[in-house]
Amino acid sequence: MADSDATQPAQARTPRHVAIIMDGNGRWAEQRNKPRHAGHRAGVESVRSTIEACVEHGIDALTLFAFSSENWRRPRAEVDMLMELFISALSREVKKLEKNKIRLRVIGDTSAFPAKLQQRIQEVEARTEGNDRLILQVAANYGGRWDIAQAARALAAEVAAGSLAVEDIDEQRFAAATSFSDIPDPDLFIRTGGERRISNFLLWHCAYSELYFTPVLWPDFDKREFARALGDFAGRERRFGRTGEQVKPKV
Ligand code: IPE
Ligand code: IPE
Ligand code: MG
Repeated sequence: MADSDATQPAQARTPRHVAIIMDGNGRWAEQRNKPRHAGHRAGVESVRSTIEACVEHGIDALTLFAFSSENWRRPRAEVDMLMELFISALSREVKKLEKNKIRLRVIGDTSAFPAKLQQRIQEVEARTEGNDRLILQVAANYGGRWDIAQAARALAAEVAAGSLAVEDIDEQRFAAATSFSDIPDPDLFIRTGGERRISNFLLWHCAYSELYFTPVLWPDFDKREFARALGDFAGRERRFGRTGEQVKPKV
C-alpha cells in the first residue's frame, strides 16, 4: 500500500486506480416509471462499459461500490434483488473476466452474504487470481469505518499475541492491514448520481484522491462520461502538500 506521499507523481495524466460510487439507479428507474430494480439491472451495463474503458485506458485498478454496510437498511425485497443480481452477474461475467485477464476481488464483510453468493465470490476470485491486466475490486457490504475497525482489530490481535510491537504501528503498517494492501490508493474518486458525499466508502484510502462528482445517473454513465472524468483528472494539479511551483514539470 502506497502512503499518501508515495502516491502518483503530481504530473501523471492517467489515474492508476479509479474508485466509483455507482449511485442513481433508483432515480433512473423512477424517471422512467419503472421499479427500482430496473435501474439496478440497467446499471450492470455501465459496470461492463466502465471495466472495458479502464482496460482501454490502461488503468491498473478499478474499485466499485456495489453494496454498502448501510444498504441493509433498504426494503428486504430490494436487498434480495441486489444479491440475486450480484450472483447472476458473477456467473455470467466470469468467462469474460478470464478472457480479458481481469482479476476480481471482493472487499467487505462478505460473511453476512447468503452462502451461495459467498461460494460464487470465492470461485470467481480463485479463477481470476493469476490475471494482471486490471484488478477489479467490488466493494460489497463494505464500509470505510468497518475497514478501519477491522484493521485495528487485526493489529491489536498481533500485539496481544506478541508478534507486533505497539511502536511499530505506523501509517504504512496500518494501511497494510486494511482491505487492499497491495494496490495504490485511488487517484480518482468518482461519484455519479449528483450527491456530494462519501457515504462511508473509502475513508482511509481517499486521503489524497481527486474527487469528481457528476449528476449523471449510474445507468447513463457510459464510456464518454468516463472519458470526461479522466479529462477532468488530467487537468488537476496534485500537490501532496507541496507548492504549485515545486510540482510544475521542469521545461
Ligand atoms: C446505487 O443506486 C446502487 C446501490 C446503492 C446498490 P441507488 O439505488 O442508491 O439509486 P438512488 O440513489 O436511489 O437513485
Ligand atoms: C452508496 O449509495 C452505496 C452504493 C453506491 C453502493 P447510497 O445511495 O446508498 O448512498 P446514500 O445513503 O444515499 O448516501
Ligand atoms: Mg443512492
